[in-house]
Amino acid sequence: MFEQLPEAIQQKVKTLATEAQKLNPTGWFEVLYSEAHRDPTQIPWARLTTHPYLQDWLNFSQPQGEGKNALVIGCGLGDDAEALSKLGFQVTAFDISPTAISWCHQRFPESSVNYLVADLLALDANWHHYFDLAIESRTIQALPVEMRQRVINCIAPVVAEGGTLLAITRIRDTDVIPDAPPWPLSEKELAQFIDLGFQEVHRNFFWSEAGQNTIKQAWIEYCLHQQ
Ligand SMILES: C[S@@+](CC[C@H](N)C(=O)[O-])C[C@H]1O[C@@H](n2cnc3c(N)ncnc32)[C@H](O)[C@@H]1O
Repeated sequence: MFEQLPEAIQQKVKTLATEAQKLNPTGWFEVLYSEAHRDPTQIPWARLTTHPYLQDWLNFSQPQGEGKNALVIGCGLGDDAEALSKLGFQVTAFDISPTAISWCHQRFPESSVNYLVADLLALDANWHHYFDLAIESRTIQALPVEMRQRVINCIAPVVAEGGTLLAITRIRDTDVIPDAPPWPLSEKELAQFIDLGFQEVHRNFFWSEAGQNTIKQAWIEYCLHQQ
């Protein structure tokens, strides 16, 4: 998420996230969005286009959206939600940052996406088992590892029986917890989705270099089996 940024923004995000980590780990996103004053270059993850790994999954999986609903978790500036909407999904997209959501409304005034402010950690129970497709792109990894179990427990229930969950995330090969964000997921952490009734259907890896480090990312498609 942070690999190709000017150093100053990279440092700002790391400082905000690290300082917030203990007291209010979700509080810094609104600070970042509001201090950006609608300049997307100040938002490290903003690409103003469909995320390439989501696009890769869409090309691979060719989902048909007609008659289906989709949820985009931590939607940021809305491009991924718009991509699903163009495929015919009835899309709900939420973010904890009110500024991000008002930015989405400003960018896509004619959109049929239902953009709203919501906290993943306190979702409406009406959303439980409701969505045919849920997409989480890089939101789990933006939250501290200590919260991981809770975050995954909050994501899992939104998927309807027989529905699909797509996770786009960095993956770490060790159980050692990185000391600064983003905090990639370990296989042990990902296995929580399996414990919650999902089956992994497909996975595609992507590797990139950042300085001395190799970054391992993937999209992972899960299916929630019908009982
Ligand atoms: C790293 S960004 C990724 C944004 C977008 N999904 C993408 O891939 O470009 C994480 C997003 O999750 C949002 N977020 C973080 N914690 C959240 C929470 N508890 N509930 C809802 N959104 C949250 C942030 O505001 C931010 O927009």
